[in-house]
Amino acid sequence: MAFDGSSIIVMAISCVFLVNLTSSLVLAKGPCQFPAIFNFGDSNSDTGGLSAAFGQAPPPNGMSYFGHPAGRYCDGRLVIDFLAESLGLAYLSAFLDSLGTNFTHGANFATAGSTIRPQNTTLHQSGFSPISLNVQFYEFHDFHVRSQIVRKRGGVYETILPKEEDFSSALYTFDIGQNDLTSGYFLNMSVDEVKAYVPDVLNQFHTIIKDIYDVGGRYFWLHNTGPVGCLPYVMERIPVLAGQIDRYGCASPFNEVAQFFNQGLKKTVQQLRKDLPHAAITYVDVYSVKYSLISQGRNHGKSTRI
Ligand SMILES: *[C@@H]1O[C@H](CO)[C@@H](O)[C@H](O)[C@H]1NC(C)=O
Ligand SMILES: *[C@@H]1O[C@H](CO)[C@@H](O)[C@H](O)[C@H]1NC(C)=O
Ligand SMILES: *[C@@H]1O[C@H](CO)[C@@H](O)[C@H](O)[C@H]1NC(C)=O
Repeated sequence: MAFDGSSIIVMAISCVFLVNLTSSLVLAKGPCQFPAIFNFGDSNSDTGGLSAAFGQAPPPNGMSYFGHPAGRYCDGRLVIDFLAESLGLAYLSAFLDSLGTNFTHGANFATAGSTIRPQNTTLHQSGFSPISLNVQFYEFHDFHVRSQIVRKRGGVYETILPKEEDFSSALYTFDIGQNDLTSGYFLNMSVDEVKAYVPDVLNQFHTIIKDIYDVGGRYFWLHNTGPVGCLPYVMERIPVLAGQIDRYGCASPFNEVAQFFNQGLKKTVQQLRKDLPHAAITYVDVYSVKYSLISQGRNHGKSTRI
């Protein structure tokens, strides 16, 4: 299935320790003290959602750090794991995981292959997760309401579910959008056709951030999308002309669309700051970090290009 191949590459990129990202959170640690993280996204930050619903991500995923498949499409840890660590919190349990979970310090709604816009295809047909961002919001909403009902039962429930007041002081993190771009390419759309629907994707993203704000979320940490044109599974599936490959081996047209998406996301964030006056919204330039890791691999300690 497409998500197998696709995610394997996505993680190869996403599981690298992004020092720049986490160090800025560490700096913020003093005043912030987030009691919980609620995460939304795709394989870049899935800690077990797709695995719980559709079967475990198989080895070698999970082997080098956890010693067994651990729900991540990654052999090691994901950026979200390092974010949790840097805030002094446990790794996030996947909302969909019914075994051994502990949501005291947050929950993870991300699943590998997720998109912002609901797709009109099944996972089996296209490899994209049915758990698109709007579904992740339904799950979050249900979790928020029912966790408080269940917590009142006391006992063990008090030790595995967050307190009501933690929802408004939690950090809401997002890493999603990459699959919205690739889904168009996989339907044989041109770069211009993909660009044409980006405003709709960003509009739906805006809606979800506002929905979370409306139920009390205040602190938002939004990753932009990475250099999709450097992902081997994209390059393998979609032919590009020789002249469109940059000197690091990445497909320039797809990276340009990713940057187009990111420019739009930046504008969306500016709009959100106006629309949601009590929110603190941080736009995180993951694109630059990942592109630097890929293009400057040697300087970052890799003997070969990622
Ligand atoms: C799915 O179909 C609906 C109805 O035709 C359309 O509005 C929507 O944009 C489609 N979604 C995608 C991702 O193409
Ligand atoms: C869940 O995690 C919290 C915080 O780390 C801890 O205090 C609690 O004991 C854990 N609950 C269980 C059942 O392990
Ligand atoms: C895209 O084009 C390729 C090559 O022409 C074809 O094999 C494939 O079926 C097309 N995919 C879709 C979804 O139209």
